[in-house]
Amino acid sequence: MARVIACADQPALELGEVVQGLNDSGFDPADEDSFAAVAPLLKGLAGNRHFLADIALAELKDRCGRQSLENRYSPQVIMLHRASEKYFIRANFWPSPRDSLFRTSGASPFFYHVPHDHNFSFLTVGYVGPGYWSEYYEYDFAAVTGIPGEKVDLRFIEKSRLEEGKVMLYRAHKDVHNQLPADQLSVSINVMHASPALPFLDQYRFDVGKCEIAGILTRTSSEALLALAANHGGDNGRDLAETFAASHPSERIRFAALRELAAAAPDVDSGLEILGRGRSAASAFIAAMSDRESARVVAGRAWIER
Ligand SMILES: [Fe+2]
Repeated sequence: MARVIACADQPALELGEVVQGLNDSGFDPADEDSFAAVAPLLKGLAGNRHFLADIALAELKDRCGRQSLENRYSPQVIMLHRASEKYFIRANFWPSPRDSLFRTSGASPFFYHVPHDHNFSFLTVGYVGPGYWSEYYEYDFAAVTGIPGEKVDLRFIEKSRLEEGKVMLYRAHKDVHNQLPADQLSVSINVMHASPALPFLDQYRFDVGKCEIAGILTRTSSEALLALAANHGGDNGRDLAETFAASHPSERIRFAALRELAAAAPDVDSGLEILGRGRSAASAFIAAMSDRESARVVAGRAWIER
């Protein structure tokens, strides 16, 4: 399961002191031990019982101006600090089924009942309330190709919750959790790994009953824009999609480019020919995804050609 970091009680810290500590400590969020070593800073922040309410009040007085600029998440999240390429700090609110927010919005905005891993590591601490529940699993990222429907050796570890003061390190591409509602409204605080590379690293949704990858959660605007480039960008757009298909560092983007070039082809057979390039690619991911897409196109041929 996500690594529980045993932390002795710490003196309460201000947010600025935590930021200074992270900036001064040679902190490397890509390194598991370095991430674990800064756990006492987060534990100290959790001991500060006023800072979050102070920030919430200041944001409300400022019409949440800073949140509008820096927060790309839903209102479930308050962005606390984002000044570094390496990391950011946020607070997350976890409603219980009894809260009106949950009753009106349902479970899905809070990612409850959606088993997933993360394409980034993060350190978290329970700040308020009994904490959200999770069923924890682990898997071997290196052993999977990343295809929806692929079997995964998911190992169930335990069910537990993120209680007040408990510090945990969720390790990228290793820890999986099926997050379940908190029994009462709870708040956690996270130090998140930030890197421009993260959008190109895959995060999966799992079917823990079938022990399968259920889908790839990571999406970038590049994938949507490739569809526009291939279909409506003329020769220049298709050239760009061809370049992405041939040489983009992300397998997911290379496949997306091929898929959109195939979709923009004048007829089904030309499209299947383009996907055939993917089926013989050296990348196991591109080969399997191209195979899957070819099967989907063939199955829908009668409808496409109507
Ligand atoms: Fe998660």
